Parts: sequence; structure tokens; C-alpha cells
Amino acid sequence: MIVTRAPLVLKLSGEHAVVYGYSAVACSIDIYLWARLRERNDSKIILRFRDKVEEYRRDRSQGFFRYVNECLRLVEELYGVRLRGLEISLELDKDVQPGAGLGTSAATCTATLAALCRFLGIREDIARLAYQVELRVQGRASRMDTYTSTLGGVTIVRGERVERLDVDPSWIRLGIVLLRKLRSTRELVRNVAQLRERYCDLVDSIFNLIEKCTENIIRAIKKRDLETLGRMVTKCHWLLNMLEVVDYRSNKIIIELLNDTNVAGAKISGAGYGGAILFILRSNLDSLELKELEVIHSSNAFKILCPVRISDGGVEVLERGY
Ligand code: MEV
Repeated sequence: MIVTRAPLVLKLSGEHAVVYGYSAVACSIDIYLWARLRERNDSKIILRFRDKVEEYRRDRSQGFFRYVNECLRLVEELYGVRLRGLEISLELDKDVQPGAGLGTSAATCTATLAALCRFLGIREDIARLAYQVELRVQGRASRMDTYTSTLGGVTIVRGERVERLDVDPSWIRLGIVLLRKLRSTRELVRNVAQLRERYCDLVDSIFNLIEKCTENIIRAIKKRDLETLGRMVTKCHWLLNMLEVVDYRSNKIIIELLNDTNVAGAKISGAGYGGAILFILRSNLDSLELKELEVIHSSNAFKILCPVRISDGGVEVLERGY
């Protein structure tokens, strides 16, 4: 059996602006998607995720398995192989749902591709392949999630370039609130494009301010400056509001979080209208304080993950055996 795991991803700044060539900062977190690949005695390819089981058919793919199907198809095409007799089981830590706004689709691609490449004995650029798969499934994609899940740590995305920041982010303590997503990324990206068509100067000025936050966030991470990091992340959130991609529920939770003296900063992570909210902690929350947070948010949010750390590593092959 081959076991791989890929970290999920948070965006610290630059959403939407990154679509127009501005820079963005993302990080991998210590919540993982796991892939287990084993050989079967028959010629079927079976995919498993929680209680869902599906057989891979080259002509059809649906739902969460679309990404896995496309990974299989891409590998078959690129290497001229016909895969058969395999079982791929996927698992998400902490009962995170696919589409939660934590880069679950990117992690699905990187973990699956890492397992397939190891199985076939191929050394490949996993990030490049995973990005191709996201492109095929979604029609458009930025490199942010796939490259960050592959490389791990803190990454800067500038157009087609993605680099890993040479920093130790272990001092950063995070929390995540997960909310039901009310609009798709595709729709929100289109809305911002329409806003920009109408108010080009204004929207470009907002993008420029987001870029300034991004630069300050990079400096703050390098200098271990928690207060600036928190402030800039929060400013980034209010700038995303100006792009009209934040819903009322998210703002209410962010304001409540920012009223907590333990929280140095908070923002939505991702395209908007639900999904993930990240917050940066000033200290380790003890269980009592965490309980209070849960009470505050229980009416709005369906999940709080805390504490969360930035993971150092990216996608990994953990075991191989038959
Ligand atoms: C989505 O997580 C972030 C966006 O910038 C879209 C993208 O980068 O592909 C909104």
C-alpha cells in the first residue's frame, strides 16, 4: 500500500487581486487529506471517500471524485499507461468537508498524484500536474492552492511564479471557522470582474492596497511581528469587503473574533461568501476560552478548528509496502 498526505491551504492575503497578477500569500496547515492506494485482484479502479464508493470510468466523472478521476486520466495520457486493478481511498482530517475553502480539491490532486507517481515509479513535478488537473476540472484556477499544498510552508504567488518563503512560521497560531459557502468561487471571480469593468480605477486601487497588505504580511512573518501580521490580515479582510465578496455572517463572526483580546487579526480565506475564516491568536487558547468562542459562534458557524499550525512540509509519501 502507498500512503500519501497533502496539507490543506489557507490564504493569508491577495485573493481576487491574484487573478489580475498581484501577489498573494498562502500557507499549508497541519490538517491533511490522506490518500491510500492499494492494488486489487481484479481490473477495476475503485475510489472511496467516507461512505461514497465509485468506480473510475474514463468517460465520466462527478462531484468530489472528479478531481481523482482527472488525476488518473492525466497520468494515463501523459505516460501512455492504462491503469487498472487499483483502489484509492481518500480521507480528510477533522471531518472537514470538501469545498470548505481550505484547498481540499488541490490537496486531493496532490495526494492522489503523489500516490500514482510513486506507484508507477515516476518522478514528477506534482504541483504542475495538480494545477493541470484543477484547470481541467474547473476551467480556470490559480496556482496558489496546488503549489502550496505541494511545497508546504508559506508561499508567495505572483502570476505564474510561486515561491516558498524561507521562514520558520511555527510561531504563528491560527484558528479557523468554517461556514457554509453561499456562492461559488467561479461566480465571485466573475462578480469582481464585473465590478472592475464598471469601476476600474477604484477596483485597481483596492488591489493596490491589498498588495501593500501582502508586502507587509511577508515582512511581518519574516520579522515575527505578530501585531503587524494580525493588523494586515484584518485590513485585507476589509478590502475584500470593498470588492463585495464578503457576506454578513462572515463579517459578524470577524467582528466578534476581533473583540476577543486573544485574537490579533481575522479575515475570510478564499473567494468569499462563506467557506473558511482564519484568525490569528495572541496566545494559546485554553479549553475554557475555546468553549466561549464556540458558544459565540455556534449560531452562525458549523465548525471551529483551533489551534491550527502552519505545516512545514508539503505533500508526502509516507509508506510503501505490498
Ligand atoms: C480563491 O481561493 C482565491 C481567488 O483568488 C481565486 C483564485 O485565486 O483562483 C478568488
